[in-house]
Amino acid sequence: MKAIVHTEYGSPEVLHLQEVPKPVPKDNEVLIKIHATTVNRNDCGFRKPEYPFIIRPINGLFKPKRKILGTELAGEIESIGKNVKSFKPGDKVFGLSAWKFGAHAEYITVPEDGSITHMPKNISYKEAAAICDGAYLALNILRKIDFKKVKNILINGASGSIGSSAVQLAKQYGATITAVCNTKNLELIKSLGADFVIDYTTDDFTKNGLHYDVVFDAVGKSSYFKCKKILNPGGTYFSTELGYLAQNIFLSMFTPLFGGKKVLFPLPKDRKEDIVLFKELIEAGKYRAVIDKVYPMEHIVEATRYVETGTKTGSVVISVIQT
Ligand SMILES: NC(=O)c1ccc[n+]([C@@H]2O[C@H](COP(=O)([O-])OP(=O)(O)OC[C@H]3O[C@@H](n4cnc5c(N)ncnc54)[C@H](OP(=O)(O)O)[C@@H]3O)[C@@H](O)[C@H]2O)c1
Repeated sequence: MKAIVHTEYGSPEVLHLQEVPKPVPKDNEVLIKIHATTVNRNDCGFRKPEYPFIIRPINGLFKPKRKILGTELAGEIESIGKNVKSFKPGDKVFGLSAWKFGAHAEYITVPEDGSITHMPKNISYKEAAAICDGAYLALNILRKIDFKKVKNILINGASGSIGSSAVQLAKQYGATITAVCNTKNLELIKSLGADFVIDYTTDDFTKNGLHYDVVFDAVGKSSYFKCKKILNPGGTYFSTELGYLAQNIFLSMFTPLFGGKKVLFPLPKDRKEDIVLFKELIEAGKYRAVIDKVYPMEHIVEATRYVETGTKTGSVVISVIQT
């Protein structure tokens, strides 16, 4: 099968499309023929690597153990292991291979109880591929919020993959959402459910006198120290980035001890039931994919370079089977 392989860390140019052996499903696994996948910030973070002191011990000190990147996938079950009960060949599925990666390929094997489920009936493979990474990372943070007490939340970086998911998912909890994005995305972000929008190119949300129960920085461009003054008493700051000198990890260890304003930094964990939830929300018309660009597999380097500009809106999809 064809796959995008990298055998060394480095710039996007280390990615090469080449032939590799097709995987064979174990007894508890399904073999998926992938139609669409994405390039996301996690792929880029593991390839560079972005935080070498974290990534290299996990993924190989000198050479990457995970040679095929890609965490999001949508495709069709080609075959199943003998113990698999809930899928059959021909089923359309979507989901995540969050820590194993491997979705930048024509085929992938995933355990039956992994983070995959049947595809929503009302969307394409490309849309299905663009759902799960931003959504599970956003939900990972949102589920730490007590929405019975929290009335208003500010989401910074609302036009990114995690941010656009966070706006849509926070809406389900009934919070009043203020979303921060650039000028061109103001209407899009309102259409996703934001009650108020702030254009970060003309207005600094830390200086306009407004206060929030939660600040969720989905693009890691602020800091607790800049946002503390705009948190209501007892308010919480979340970020998807570790921050300068990994400060968000340290702040999340001691700020909750004092009972006032705090930082929380929940580590991401993907779960099958979350993918099922995303399917239900999509089928109910309450959630949708936000896609910026679609590239063929052959253009992986160009797609990756674009993702690394940090300016994508939602997701960048890789079309594995051209439709
Ligand atoms: N914690 C984790 O497990 C984890 C996992 C994956 C990724 N991440 C991190 O989470 C962050 C978000 O990932 P993502 O994939 O959602 O990012 P993304 O899609 O690349 O986000 C890009 C978006 O952020 C907007 N943006 C850039 N600078 C901004 C600013 N100063 N204020 C407001 N919006 C701004 C951009 O708008 P413009 O076009 O105007 O620039 C663009 O629409 C990344 O920093 C990534 O490294 C964390």
